[in-house]
Amino acid sequence: MADNTDVIVNPKEDIVDPWTVQSSSEKGVDYDKLIDQFGSMRISDDLIKRLEKVTGKPVHHFIRRGIFFSHRELEMILEKYENKQPFYLYTGRGPSSEAMHLGHLIPFICTQWLQETFDVPLVIQLTDDEKFLWKDIKDPDQTYKLAYENAKDIIACGFDINKTFIFSDFDYIGGCPDFYKNICRIEKNVTFNQVKAIFGFNGSNNIGQVSFPAIQAAPSFSSSFPLIFGGNTRVPCLIPCAIDQDPYFRMTRDVAPKLKFLKPALLHSVFFPALQGAQGKMSSSDPTSSIFLTDTQQEIEDKINKYAYSGGGATLEKHRKKGGDLDTDVSYQYLRFFLEDDAKLDRLGKEYKAGTLATGDLKKELIAVLQKIIGDHQAERKKVTDEIVKQYMTPRRLNYKY
Ligand code: TYM
Repeated sequence: MADNTDVIVNPKEDIVDPWTVQSSSEKGVDYDKLIDQFGSMRISDDLIKRLEKVTGKPVHHFIRRGIFFSHRELEMILEKYENKQPFYLYTGRGPSSEAMHLGHLIPFICTQWLQETFDVPLVIQLTDDEKFLWKDIKDPDQTYKLAYENAKDIIACGFDINKTFIFSDFDYIGGCPDFYKNICRIEKNVTFNQVKAIFGFNGSNNIGQVSFPAIQAAPSFSSSFPLIFGGNTRVPCLIPCAIDQDPYFRMTRDVAPKLKFLKPALLHSVFFPALQGAQGKMSSSDPTSSIFLTDTQQEIEDKINKYAYSGGGATLEKHRKKGGDLDTDVSYQYLRFFLEDDAKLDRLGKEYKAGTLATGDLKKELIAVLQKIIGDHQAERKKVTDEIVKQYMTPRRLNYKY
């Protein structure tokens, strides 16, 4: 997705789908409008309170700060949890490049928090088939290899090895007839006209692309994992992802009742902006648009100093007089994602807005935060051996309560 992003200069309307994220405003996508357009629900303060009551702990700062801002049927999942009935988490990654960027981390960080908080099983789909079908790649082995590389970055996020199954589509479709049968059930119940309307496919899409949505839909149903759930075909599913993936799951929720399957619940995040500003999405094919998990400490510093769009005044004098614009300032926006300390974020925001904190000083704060996060991530990734990857990627019964 991120690598196939079409760059549309100054579109009149926001465009958000699995391939394109472009905004008509430098403040980024209008998420309120998107909620109306997609028909999802905003995560309300009451829902956050309920989450805290049910789990007995404060929500993750991504939820508190509205970074995860929208959902579908999260209440149903909380109700199950309150009634001591199981649910599972499902998320994924399209392995199109060796290096994942900071934006890709967002759903995985949230999913790790959810797994730890609710103590539930998790399945992670690596769509090596999707990336082969969409990208200019001649050999499926290329994306298959990238899936294994990306698995290391995902494992480094700290998922429970006894409760997590990571799979490549090439492996799992070949290895699990129940998964492939569910894919075929979905394919049979979704027409070409429907996918044309949802995804904008047309006569020039290859036929693999046209049927791929069924493959991303199938892990939403526990019957796709007979070994993992010990044959329980009615375990409900919660999917954390950025909102660009929602079209896949609107289709999934539409088709589920026809198959007598449970509709998956969803938790949607906003987009982590590109260094150049919130109008576009980060792209793995443009190294100046993003911070990668493989960047060195020096590269992080250089990229922030050189490319992070500033919402500050054009000169220091103007900045001191008029102050900075927090909505468009990329360094401040990045700190909202990654600086956990609420009081410090609040102080930096106020000072920057008032013009008493200069852009260079705000960038310095961000550089320190990101160098620590990426340095820690790289240290964790180094510990992930091939043996550990194999354990996560072996289909097996996962531990779950109830
Ligand atoms: P992919 O590899 O493009 O992205 C992986 C996950 O990261 C999210 N994401 C972002 N989140 C915040 N800010 C950004 N700038 C940003 N860029 C990407 C994506 O929404 C996604 O959650 N087709 C999928 C793989 C997939 C999947 C899934 C994703 C298969 N099954 C189930 C989510 C849930 C893809 O190519 O993701």
